[in-house]
Parts: sequence; structure tokens; C-alpha cells
Amino acid sequence: MGDALLRSIGKGKSVKVVANGKHTARSVLLTGATGGIGMELAKRYARPGRTLILWGRNPQRLTEIATTCCARGSAVFTRQIDLCDGEAALAAFKADYAEHKPDLVILGAGLSDIQPLDSMTEDPQKVLQLAQVNYATPVALATAAAQNMIPNGGGHIALIGSVAGFYELPCSPAYSSSKCGLDFFARAAGLAWEDKGVGLTLIVPGFIDTPMSRRLEGPRPFLVSAKSAARRIIRAINKRKKVYIFPWPFRALRVLERLLPQCLRERILRSLIVGQKERQ
Ligand SMILES: NC(=O)c1ccc[n+]([C@@H]2O[C@H](COP(=O)([O-])OP(=O)(O)OC[C@H]3O[C@@H](n4cnc5c(N)ncnc54)[C@H](OP(=O)(O)O)[C@@H]3O)[C@@H](O)[C@H]2O)c1
Repeated sequence: MGDALLRSIGKGKSVKVVANGKHTARSVLLTGATGGIGMELAKRYARPGRTLILWGRNPQRLTEIATTCCARGSAVFTRQIDLCDGEAALAAFKADYAEHKPDLVILGAGLSDIQPLDSMTEDPQKVLQLAQVNYATPVALATAAAQNMIPNGGGHIALIGSVAGFYELPCSPAYSSSKCGLDFFARAAGLAWEDKGVGLTLIVPGFIDTPMSRRLEGPRPFLVSAKSAARRIIRAINKRKKVYIFPWPFRALRVLERLLPQCLRERILRSLIVGQKERQ
């Protein structure tokens, strides 16, 4: 089956893999399914009677996770797509919604970047990609999901933000502001859609042990494993929480930081020196 998957996955194409011929109405679409958090989410959601629509960029990891989820009994469809292309993402969503009617959409794909210590600014090209993948495309996809779900009996959408969105980080203005924008969008859209049958959960993780955070050169306080993160995220979605910040020390920090004078806050933020390793 792995070989069949490898042969059939192509850029921009949706590929069907059916385990045991089972289909159910329950269907989950997940972006970032090839990432540290996304793979764990996909594995946990995989079960007989549930359809998974897995989006990612890396074809090998997409095949790997599709095969695992298929072996766990899900009907799995994969889509290899680059979310820098927002128009293509919207067209792909339209096609996948028409075919699978996902009642849960988890928008987890994301990019991070830290300004190199020897550089005057971030790289404008990376800033553009980051704004697209972390903010513009997920916000457009969430809107497309709600637009389809509302006349079809409702559904639920989860967006993955970051605690970085709480802080105006001088070492990564583009990442922190993209996640801050996602946070604001989630709160506003949640209010707009809640009485129309569409729930929205904003997941706000601290440091999770995935390839993204392993690139950081610096401390990763209160680190959570990807497995544990996936378990907590699914619990928050099941409870239909509006916002879920984890692990708990970051919730406590939200309260404490309100007591800080702005000048002290800025001094602390300026003193954060973080490097990053090259992407593998
Ligand atoms: N790890 C942390 O400490 C942490 C903390 C707070 C928030 N988060 C957020 O959690 C989410 C998942 O992150 P992770 O830790 O699992 O990171 P990861 O292992 O680096 O995975 C990132 C995922 O995003 C996908 N992606 C990146 N750029 C893409 C693009 N242009 N088009 C399509 N897909 C793209 C990747 O696809 P490919 O691998 O196929 O390229 C991968 O599936 C992100 O939104 C991240 O910002 C992570």
C-alpha cells in the first residue's frame, strides 16, 4: 500500500486511500499533517469510521502518516500543497469540502523564523512566506470552512496560534505578529460564527518538542512532547474551548505580565537573545 501511495501522490492532487472500505460521515481535515504536532494529531484522530483529509508539503512524510492512519482504520485522503499559494489552497479546500464535507477543520501548518543575530532585519522574503502560511492562508481557509459548514449543519474549526503571539518579540517580529493576528481573528470570527453553528478553538501552545522548536538555539522552558500536545489539543477541541493556552505556566504568565510596567516589559523582550539552526 505504501508503494501505491508513493506513486499516486502528486502536487496539488487529492489522493484516496481507503482502509477496510469503511466510510463515515465524520470527517477531519488537517493542515500541517506532516509536522511534529500534525502527525500526532492525525494518528490520534485515525480510527475506523472516520475520514481524514491530510494536507502537507513533504511527500514522504505525507505517505508515512497516511499509511499509519490507514492502518489504524481511517479512510485517508492526502493533498500535497504549498500554503504560500492562498488561491490554490482555497481551490483545494473547495474541492475537498465538496467531496468529504469535513465537520472538523484543524489549521495547524505553520512556519517559524528568528532574525539572524548578525542581520539588521528579518529576510523580507521569509517574512512574506510566514505571513502567508501562518496568517493569510489559514484565515482564508477558516472563512471558507465556515462558509461551507453554516448551510451544511455546522462544524468546528481549530487554529494553531502560539504564545509568541502574546509578545512583541524583537527576534521574530513576523512570527509573533502572524500568531497575534491569528489570535485576534479567532476571537472575532468565533463571535461571528458561534450562533451559526460553527465553533472555533484557538490553540495556543508554548514550546512543543518538534522539528520547529528543535531549530531554536536557546532554552525551551516548560517543554511539552508532541504526543502530549496532541492529546491536550484534542481534549480542548472536544470541550469546544474558545481558547486553550498550554502548558499552564504560560497561562499564569498572562496574568503576571499585566502587572509589569511597559518599559520593563520592553527591556525583558529586548534582552531575549535566541538563535536558530538551519532548516533540515
Ligand atoms: N513547536 C512549537 O514549539 C510550537 C509552539 C507554538 C506554536 N506552534 C505551532 O504549531 C503548529 C505546528 O508546528 P510544529 O511544531 O508541528 O512544526 P513542524 O514540525 O515544523 O511542522 C510544521 C508543519 O507546517 C507545514 N508547513 C510549513 N510551511 C508550509 C507551507 N508553505 N505549505 C504547506 N505546509 C507548510 C509543514 O509541512 P512540511 O513539513 O510537509 O513542509 C508541517 O506539516 C505551527 O502552526 C506552529 O507555529 C509550534
